[in-house]
Amino acid sequence: MKPLRKAVVTAAGWGTRFLPATKAQPKEMLPLVDKPLIQHIVEEAVASGLRDIIVVTALGKRAIEDHFDRSFELEYLLQEKGKAEMVQALRAISDLANLVYVRQKAQLGLGHAVLTTRDIVGDEPFAVLLPDDVIQAEVPATRQMMDVFRKLGGSVIAVEPVPEDQVSSYGIVQTREVGHHIWEVLGLVEKPAPGKAPSNLGIVGRYILTPEVFEALEHTPPGSGGEIQLTDALQLLLRGQRIFAYQFEGTRYDAGTPLGFLKASVELALQHPELGPQFRQFLRRLDLGGDKGHNP
Ligand code: G1P
Repeated sequence: MKPLRKAVVTAAGWGTRFLPATKAQPKEMLPLVDKPLIQHIVEEAVASGLRDIIVVTALGKRAIEDHFDRSFELEYLLQEKGKAEMVQALRAISDLANLVYVRQKAQLGLGHAVLTTRDIVGDEPFAVLLPDDVIQAEVPATRQMMDVFRKLGGSVIAVEPVPEDQVSSYGIVQTREVGHHIWEVLGLVEKPAPGKAPSNLGIVGRYILTPEVFEALEHTPPGSGGEIQLTDALQLLLRGQRIFAYQFEGTRYDAGTPLGFLKASVELALQHPELGPQFRQFLRRLDLGGDKGHNP
């Protein structure tokens, strides 16, 4: 088995759920506490040992490339003002990883986004990280999955139990338990209709995939929402390979919706070493009122 070195981060979506905030800026650049959402994700990949990162972008996403690039003007300006610490902090971002960008020219779905990286990934296993899912964990979730991959030798999908009324928002796996929080995948379905889900284990946006998934993606017809779904490609891949589902240790925040993003912001701010204590005090003083009349 070839070593796992590369991570694909998908950042090509329109971010329609965040309009108008995302009218002129990428959703992935929205600040989650003190850094853009995508930086949290890239840092997880790097902390997992993956420094070669392929970001799938699209029209209007240039700010992402600028963020991870060096800004000599800004560094010069800060240096002149004696803000050496801030200069170091900015350099750390551009030194974080080896980033390569590939453009998805049409919004044809997550599966299609992954397929656009085929030539760059080549014939080796790779990780996929979706910025919509932010995971706080002692051992980075991607790292945990890499360990499972090395042990079991098949693609690994992150899962967690999701409430019954939310199964239609996720890819859902049908499974057979093979270990503590590890299942063999028997089937997958993308966003099943209520009552049609084979289980309550929802796919979370972290995958370790074998390169054969690209061949499967080539043959995957449009599915849910008319898009080429990664979930459907994995169903095809199952014909020739075993796939495992793994429930990671840690907490996932759904940063893919404004409400989820707000919740993630509050929780991460509370955990922030510098901001946390003051923010906690501030929240304690808030008059939250009653629920009546405040529910949408
Ligand atoms: C994607 C996947 C889905 C998965 C979800 C996790 O859906 O297609 O299988 O459950 O990410 O966040 P999306 O939320 O991008 O529609």
